[in-house]
Amino acid sequence: MYPPAVRGAGSVYWTPLSVAARAATLLATDAVTRVLDVGAGVGKFCIVGAAVTQASFVGVEQRGHLVAIARAAALRLGVPTVRFEHGGLDAVDPAAFDAFYFFNPFEENTWDAEDQLDQSVVLSRQKFVEDVARAERLLAAARVGARVVTYHGFGGAMPDGYEHAHREPHPRSYLDLWIKKREGDG
Ligand SMILES: C[S@@+](CC[C@H](N)C(=O)[O-])C[C@H]1O[C@@H](n2cnc3c(N)ncnc32)[C@H](O)[C@@H]1O
Repeated sequence: MYPPAVRGAGSVYWTPLSVAARAATLLATDAVTRVLDVGAGVGKFCIVGAAVTQASFVGVEQRGHLVAIARAAALRLGVPTVRFEHGGLDAVDPAAFDAFYFFNPFEENTWDAEDQLDQSVVLSRQKFVEDVARAERLLAAARVGARVVTYHGFGGAMPDGYEHAHREPHPRSYLDLWIKKREGDG
């Protein structure tokens, strides 16, 4: 499904197929659920999620060439309930989503250059801190009832008002489900 250039990154950067299917099922409670993949990469989680659930999926991704690959893959597979946006978290409207998926998107900022996916975006420890803070603000602003699944976490702390609803082991790490039960205290 993917060009060789991005296939090699698979085991480290893209959610394994079975994990993607399970994570999507934990997030998509019904056909009107709108799921955001924060850092969608080549779109694997969104495409699998849209194929195995009735929900709709949006992936936001900072690397333009990965967005192009994700869009082409969705088109080729004929998955209509998925969309990919090029950009970061600042442009995301929390009210537009009911559920959020994070496969540890920001940690790459803290890795040595040879372990990073590529050098097409600026990565730094400062960006890590800023992106984690953006994600925490996004989740704090999400609606009551919002569901969040993390695989390898997201580098931050779940905001006030979320309850840890479920944890299960998967290859290499855990899937964790959080549900926002009430507005946070501030
Ligand atoms: C570990 S990969 C996960 C890809 C995909 N979610 C999956 O599960 O297959 C993390 C992705 O997040 C992207 N990313 C990291 N920080 C981002 C940010 N601030 N805004 C948008 N995308 C970001 C990276 O470029 C990378 O493609």
